[in-house]
Amino acid sequence: MPILNDYNKLSESYQQTAVKPDKQFSTLPTVLKIAGNFENKVVLDLGCGNGFFSNEFAHNGAKKVFGVDNSIEQINLAKKNPLENTEYILADIFEDKLPVADIALAPYVVNYATDTKQLVKLFQNIFDSLTEKGKLIIVVDLPEGKDLKKFGAIKNVLGEKVDEAQIEIQLFNNEKFICSLNAVYFTPSTLEKTLYSVGFTDVVWHKPIISDEGIKKFGNEFWKGYIESPELGYISATKI
Ligand SMILES: C[S@@+](CC[C@H](N)C(=O)[O-])C[C@H]1O[C@@H](n2cnc3c(N)ncnc32)[C@H](O)[C@@H]1O
Repeated sequence: MPILNDYNKLSESYQQTAVKPDKQFSTLPTVLKIAGNFENKVVLDLGCGNGFFSNEFAHNGAKKVFGVDNSIEQINLAKKNPLENTEYILADIFEDKLPVADIALAPYVVNYATDTKQLVKLFQNIFDSLTEKGKLIIVVDLPEGKDLKKFGAIKNVLGEKVDEAQIEIQLFNNEKFICSLNAVYFTPSTLEKTLYSVGFTDVVWHKPIISDEGIKKFGNEFWKGYIESPELGYISATKI
């Protein structure tokens, strides 16, 4: 499939996203909250990058974490801080068979499906990799044209906001530019329908949270307006 962003070139700069306020103090705690109790569970981190989410799950009780990414540079970075219970695999999450897992995470990677056909393929691939009662957790881009630079991102859909429209993303840390990315927009209803179409049940949208640490560090005033419209969608879906 066509490559939307060359993470072999972006990997160094992308590492700075780990300290973006939104990612550190909202996306991460929200994903952990949705996951619930993952002690002794096998977790699959799709598009794991340098292991941002993998490490958290591996540190906090997961039996095993498989991180999968198709960028060798991202995998090399992830392997720099190896934990005993993590395994990083160079593979294409749309094309290659995925390891069996109880929980699959797809944070900031679903929008790399180039069209709705690819989206079906990805969700089917994840569904096949999950155990019975396994859970998928997705973080997707849902731009609304707001300026969320102070939280870490500015995203714009080019043209009409329809399935497969292009999204331009600029990432920032403390207003300092990190990098630009391209992604592909899918409507909430397409995401939901596609999940059901491959066999998932119990598709739920979750409200994001901000961790106490984030509130302590930046204060309530800073976060005003973010939770109501973070331009991200948090979805969980179950394989029953
Ligand atoms: C926006 S980054 C997110 C990285 C990580 N989830 C994080 O939040 O720090 C997207 C990641 O998905 C990976 N990726 C993109 N397309 C992929 C594919 N077809 N198969 C596997 N990984 C892919 C990229 O190499 C990149 O590391």
